[in-house]
Amino acid sequence: GGDFSQKIDYVFKVVLIGDSAVGKSQLLARFSRNQFSLDSKATIGVEFQTKTLVIDNKTVKAQIWDTAGQERYRAVTSAYYRGAVGAMLVYDMTKRQSFDNMARWLEELRGHADKNIIVMLIGNKCDLGNLRAVPTEDAQEFAQRESLFFMETSALESTNVETAFLTILTEIY
Ligand code: GTP
Ligand code: MG
Repeated sequence: GGDFSQKIDYVFKVVLIGDSAVGKSQLLARFSRNQFSLDSKATIGVEFQTKTLVIDNKTVKAQIWDTAGQERYRAVTSAYYRGAVGAMLVYDMTKRQSFDNMARWLEELRGHADKNIIVMLIGNKCDLGNLRAVPTEDAQEFAQRESLFFMETSALESTNVETAFLTILTEIY
């Protein structure tokens, strides 16, 4: 075999947060392995996946951390946020409560993460447009007020998943 060793120029830690069942783990599965599962189990503790990409001729290793939305399954908060340079704040666009809780997730993030962290608001499950409970404008307004990037995605249909991760990684870079 040849020499497959790859020089990594940067390692970027990105964290996923948001209520249980909004699709954090499936967004990560889609991005890192191009997989999706409808009977995904709730995350317990912390998991992570890495994906290596080339941005501007530099090799960037994205280390994406995923934790439980459910309080009782969550790991130590400060360790989760430590060293993160990007965050995805995920809600389910068919569940208003998951959007209303974004302010609390953002507060926790701002309390623990570096102040220069790049944050993207993600309205997931846009394949379920007929069940939409969060108008795009509401999310845009919140994102603008809080200086967040914003995108609507579907892990199921692969809509905007790659774009969302690439946008955040490019902004970090
Ligand atoms: P916790 O680990 O408990 O915090 O939940 P989570 O945010 O990781 O949610 P998960 O990725 O496990 O997905 C929850 C459910 O939503 C699963 O049944 C997924 O298949 C489903 N789901 C995730 N993304 C999408 C999507 O884009 N569209 C649809 N229709 N379902 C999705
Ligand atoms: Mg999960």
